Amino acid sequence: MQKHSKTIQTPTGKLGILIPGMGAVTTTLLAGIELIRQNKMPSFGSVSQTGHIRLGKRSEMRQPRIRDVVPLAALDDLAFCCWDIFPDNAYDAARHANVLTPEQLLSVKNFLSKITPLPGLFDRKFVKKLDGRHIKKGRTWWDKHLELQNDIDNFSRKSRVSRRIMVWCASTEIFLEPSKTHATLSAFEKGLRENAASISPSMVYAYTAIKNKIPFINGAPNLSCNIPALTELAHKNGVPIAGKDFKTGQTLLKTIIAPGLKARMLGIDGWFSTNILGNRDGEVLDDPESFRSKETSKLSVLRTILQPDLYPELYEHMNHMVRINYYPPRGDRKESWDNIDLFGWLGRKMQIKINFLCEDSILAAPVVLDLILFMDLAQRAGLKGIQEWLSFYFKSPLTDPSAYPEHDLFIQQTKMKNTLRHLMGEKPVTHMDLE
Ligand SMILES: NC(=O)c1ccc[n+]([C@@H]2O[C@H](COP(=O)([O-])OP(=O)(O)OC[C@H]3O[C@@H](n4cnc5c(N)ncnc54)[C@H](O)[C@@H]3O)[C@@H](O)[C@H]2O)c1
Repeated sequence: MQKHSKTIQTPTGKLGILIPGMGAVTTTLLAGIELIRQNKMPSFGSVSQTGHIRLGKRSEMRQPRIRDVVPLAALDDLAFCCWDIFPDNAYDAARHANVLTPEQLLSVKNFLSKITPLPGLFDRKFVKKLDGRHIKKGRTWWDKHLELQNDIDNFSRKSRVSRRIMVWCASTEIFLEPSKTHATLSAFEKGLRENAASISPSMVYAYTAIKNKIPFINGAPNLSCNIPALTELAHKNGVPIAGKDFKTGQTLLKTIIAPGLKARMLGIDGWFSTNILGNRDGEVLDDPESFRSKETSKLSVLRTILQPDLYPELYEHMNHMVRINYYPPRGDRKESWDNIDLFGWLGRKMQIKINFLCEDSILAAPVVLDLILFMDLAQRAGLKGIQEWLSFYFKSPLTDPSAYPEHDLFIQQTKMKNTLRHLMGEKPVTHMDLE
């Protein structure tokens, strides 16, 4: 664990939440926070709001709610600023996303109608399926980043926020490999001025945030802050960063089930995963180049959990396939099917079938809320760079280049809770106590 001061600044004043992308996830997040504030809805799905944490030995019986013992920002203190490439306000965008019930929409209509997105920083080359016209006009990436900075300054002044967090909830950009332009901060800044072809909008948002000492979270699978230039800047400016790709539906289940099968030394011949999805995210992922970013993110989890190099007889020949089909009638109500071909004692073959009828944004919104609150905590605790303890929330957790990512949800949960204990000056729970 990285060294840090155990003194955590108290969360006084407002926390500004800066969100590029005001689609299904963002509007479900905004509406959910407002409904919780109005005491109309519970905060299910959110660990920060609903979860408890064990402190000390089992015999001490100390199991407080996380939010009662960890100094997190209060939901009443959150203020929002969004960007999108379409001008619809949050109420219209939420109606379009079709996630909330009519009663829920009505309860938050006033609140959502007042949130109008600022013009996004966009280049169609990176999201081929969208053609937004509500965009920044600057000539170079550098000019556009200055416009973005101006937006952030204006919002911060008007809303009188004392701290800010940025979370990328915009569409998945095409798959990119890190290149020379991404290798150092100076090469990247030169690229911004020269409009380098390998710089994508999500990188410019991330750069602007980190440059302004604003923690940055990447909820999509594209590179964004996951390049050496921006990690360098995060360290230089003492800013926490986290990503990438929220872990919500099928991959969440994968990282719950695979560790269990492996723990019992059951082998796997194949794991076939398919999805149907009909929201705008599904439409964007219908482009093979955007899908490649998602596929890479979804495929990475099993090999790390199963360690085929250590257990070649169990996992080396596993076929792992992931498909996403854009199927408009389904909207945000994604359906996924998994078929797992496994084998056990005497090589006997078995199968598991999973059919998850989930709601994509309903699963994602509490993840975003937790990340916002924990990243703000990280900054007030003096943590900087990649926040591996928040891997719990990501399909492709960012890690130091010297280490592999941890995908097993239960290892991730232990790491997250022990980090919270450490920040509070409590002992980590190792499950070694004998009382
Ligand atoms: N819903 C989930 O469970 C889940 C899980 C993991 C990751 N994600 C990722 O989260 C992101 C948001 O998902 P969603 O379902 O809300 O998608 P969405 O399509 O409903 O919303 C994305 C919004 O981003 C906007 N946008 C695109 N490029 C932009 C830019 N450069 N600047 C500003 N706005 C821009 C689009 O106009 C759209 O309104 C996607 O990248 C998705 O892959 C979602």
